[in-house]
Amino acid sequence: MTEPGRLAELIARERSRYANTHQASARAFRLAGQNLLGGVPMTWMRMWPGGFPPYLATAEGARLTDIDGNSYADFCLGDTGAMAGHSPAPVREEVARRYGELGGATTMLPTEDAAWVAADLSRRFGPALWSFTLSATDANRWALRIARQVTGRPKVAVFSYCYHGSVDEAFIVATPDGPRSRPGNTGAPVDPVRTTSVAEFNDIDSVERELAQRDVAALLMEPALTNIGIVLPDPGFLSAVRHLASEYGTLLINDETHTLSAGPGGCTKAWNLSPDIVTIGKSIGGGIPCGAFGLAAPLAERILADESADIIDAGGIGGTLAGNALSVAAMRATLQEVLTDEAFAAMIALADRFTAGVRGVIAEYHLPWNIVQLGARAEYRFCPSPPRSGAASHAAADPALDEYLHLYLANRGVLITPFHNMALMCPATTAADVDAHTSVFAAAAAELSRR
Ligand SMILES: Cc1ncc(COP(=O)(O)O)c(C=O)c1O
Repeated sequence: MTEPGRLAELIARERSRYANTHQASARAFRLAGQNLLGGVPMTWMRMWPGGFPPYLATAEGARLTDIDGNSYADFCLGDTGAMAGHSPAPVREEVARRYGELGGATTMLPTEDAAWVAADLSRRFGPALWSFTLSATDANRWALRIARQVTGRPKVAVFSYCYHGSVDEAFIVATPDGPRSRPGNTGAPVDPVRTTSVAEFNDIDSVERELAQRDVAALLMEPALTNIGIVLPDPGFLSAVRHLASEYGTLLINDETHTLSAGPGGCTKAWNLSPDIVTIGKSIGGGIPCGAFGLAAPLAERILADESADIIDAGGIGGTLAGNALSVAAMRATLQEVLTDEAFAAMIALADRFTAGVRGVIAEYHLPWNIVQLGARAEYRFCPSPPRSGAASHAAADPALDEYLHLYLANRGVLITPFHNMALMCPATTAADVDAHTSVFAAAAAELSRR
């Protein structure tokens, strides 16, 4: 593989090309630095390679343009927020109708769309009763509060190197010296070692060790890890987790925010899982802020009947704008007309094509890399075989290689997510977009393999 010195030269060349072709974005970024923290509207926008992000001009379907006039096939899709594609027509029309024609985005009054959305989420994922939020983070936070309330237990369990949004309890990793607050955990209100038990994905003994303490209210998990590369469950792992959770009285929460890529009902439906709670956000509003959590009926009855739980006023669950008319109108249009069962079939077929293309390049150049697919999402990782745990996937990270590849792709009109190497298909993605990625990826691989 490429020597570090040569890789540094290639990165410098790509940075310089990026700077030349993104001068308006560079100027906007410099000016923004006077008043925006870190020079960006939200600090994770600093993750884009090249020193500054491209500034968005237009977005439609699977295509973006920036203010320098560069055009991109977009496989980042807002890190899943735009899994429905950018501004799909049914959502655009419904948002315009709700906000412009009918009026009233935030009134604290229900609209009929909400019950339709809840029924569709039940059809997709199973849980009977749903409540809305404005983000996946809030869906997780409120689900955890309900779990603690009904079980009377103080702790939460997660998998090492998970990500569930900015949920305080989830910033913990397992280390050989025991659980530790995840490096970089900013201003944690409480050391998560006190609030959280942490297990290793695909290590059922580690799950049993934690749940057997009988102090864990809920295991918050993705059925496949997606935020440290994709880590798929070993055969039998998820059913063993379900079994242990039931045995030890811990509620199981499937966070389907990213794993929705597996199909219309996420991994929960695709793999016939039976969590007690499902949480979701990002994509189901077509880019309009939204989120939801669904409770299995017996659990819903328990929380509704619990007189010591104030879930109506100031009891720690709720947001003024949650379930607002605009958000639920966008969710209804997205679920009814965009992220349909048929759309998923096409998206997954394109991800098959993407994965096969990348796999072919990896084989052709004998790269010690692999690619893992989860429905409409695929991700390459710099190790010879797919990692089986968060720790193993973390160890395969290579920030220099990431920077080179991300810039190489961006400079040739292809965007993948700035966090690791994820590519997602939306209903508007085309085979030509996928093939464009494969050929640019192949050119990068050829360059890296040259001595
Ligand atoms: C699995 C998962 N859950 C929850 C979230 C939080 O989403 P948001 O930041 O939109 O609240 C994320 C964000 O990446 C996620 O990947």
